[in-house]
Amino acid sequence: MQTLVCTTPGELTYQLGIKPELTPGNAIIRIRRIGICGTDLHAFEGTQPYFNYPRILGHELAGELVEVDGTSDFEPGEAVTFIPYFNCGHCIACRSGKPNCCANLSVCGVHADGGMVEYLSVPSYSLVHGNGLSFDELALVEPLAIGAHGIRRAGVQPGEWVLVIGAGPIGLGVMEFARIAGGNVIALDINESRLNFCRNRLKVEHTVLATAPDVLEQLAAITNGDMPTVVIDATGSLRAINNAFQYMAHGARYILIGLQKGEISFSHPEFHKREGTLMSSRNATRQDFEHVITSMKSGQIDPTTYITHRVAFGQVSDEFASWLNPANGVIKAMVAINE
Ligand SMILES: NC(=O)c1ccc[n+]([C@@H]2O[C@H](COP(=O)([O-])OP(=O)(O)OC[C@H]3O[C@@H](n4cnc5c(N)ncnc54)[C@H](O)[C@@H]3O)[C@@H](O)[C@H]2O)c1
Ligand SMILES: [Zn+2]
Ligand SMILES: [Zn+2]
Repeated sequence: MQTLVCTTPGELTYQLGIKPELTPGNAIIRIRRIGICGTDLHAFEGTQPYFNYPRILGHELAGELVEVDGTSDFEPGEAVTFIPYFNCGHCIACRSGKPNCCANLSVCGVHADGGMVEYLSVPSYSLVHGNGLSFDELALVEPLAIGAHGIRRAGVQPGEWVLVIGAGPIGLGVMEFARIAGGNVIALDINESRLNFCRNRLKVEHTVLATAPDVLEQLAAITNGDMPTVVIDATGSLRAINNAFQYMAHGARYILIGLQKGEISFSHPEFHKREGTLMSSRNATRQDFEHVITSMKSGQIDPTTYITHRVAFGQVSDEFASWLNPANGVIKAMVAINE
C-alpha cells in the first residue's frame, strides 16, 4: 500500500508499505480523510519537541472499518473515526478515568506511525462510531474534541464571559464549545484576519486585537468591569500565556490548552488576590468525542467551515510546505485518500 513518510524535517516521501493484518484486540481502517494539524506542520518543520524521524504523520482520521477483533459493537463497512491517544490502561491516570493524560501515552502519528497510509491498524477500544456523519466531519472530530475537553475542564456556566486567546483551529473549537455551554465568547488574537473569521464564520460577537494598547480596558468594557471568569490559552505562545493572567476576573479559572516549551511565570500576589485556578488541558476523552459528534449532528457546529484547503493523497508532498505559509490562510487542510 502507499504511505507518505516524513523521513526527516522538510522531507515527505511516498513509500510502499506493508498493508497491516488483523491482530488480536485491533481493527483495520481503510483511511478516507486525513486532517492536517499544527502538530503535523511542526513535525515537518522540525520544531515539534520529542519527535523522531522517520515518522508517518496524521492523527485526524476517518475511514471505513474493514475488520475488527475484540468488540462486537462495530460492523465492518461502517464509517468510523478513532481516539488517537493510545493509553496503557493501568497507570494512575488510566485508573482514574483520565486516559487522555496516561503516563505512558502513545499518540498515533506522533509517538507511533499515523494515518498517511491506505490502511491503518488501531486498537479496537479506540474506535468511535461515525453516527451518519460524513468522512470530512469525522476527520474534524478529534481537533474539535480538544476544545470540547478544555471547556469541560473549565466547567463553563451559561452567561459567563469566556476569553479565548488564539483563533487557530484549536481556539476556534474552544469558542464553539464555549458558546454551546452558554458562555459569552471573546476572541483575542494578534492576527486580524483570524479575528474576522471568528466574527464572520463563527458569529463571535466580541473580538479584540492583541496588539492594541488597551486590551485590558477593552476586556473590562465588554464585561461591564468584571473581566472574564474563564480565560483559555489556545496560542501556545509563552508571552501570551504569561500576559493573560492579568485578564482573569476575581475567582476566575485559567485553562492552558496551548503548549510551549518554556517556564510560565506570573505574579503570585495578583494570582492569590483573585483566588485563581490554573489548569492544563491535554487531549480529550471519549466523552468529548461524543459531545462533538452530537453537536455536529444537531447542527450546532458546521465543521465544513473549517476546511480551507483540500487535496488528494498524491498531492500532499507537493502542497505540504505551502500550508506552513501564513499568507495562504490555512485553517484546516483536508486530504482525501482511497477515493
Ligand atoms: N491540549 C492539547 O492536547 C492540544 C492539542 C492540539 C494542539 N494544542 C496546542 O494548541 C495551540 C494552538 O494550536 P493551533 O493549531 O490552533 O495553532 P495556530 O498556530 O494555528 O494558532 C495559534 C493562534 O494564536 C495566535 N497568537 C499567537 N501569539 C499570540 C499572542 N501573543 N496573543 C494572541 N494570539 C496569539 C496566532 O495568531 C494564531 O491565530 C498550540 O500550542 C498547540 O500545540 C494542544
Ligand atoms: Zn491535531
Ligand atoms: Zn495509562
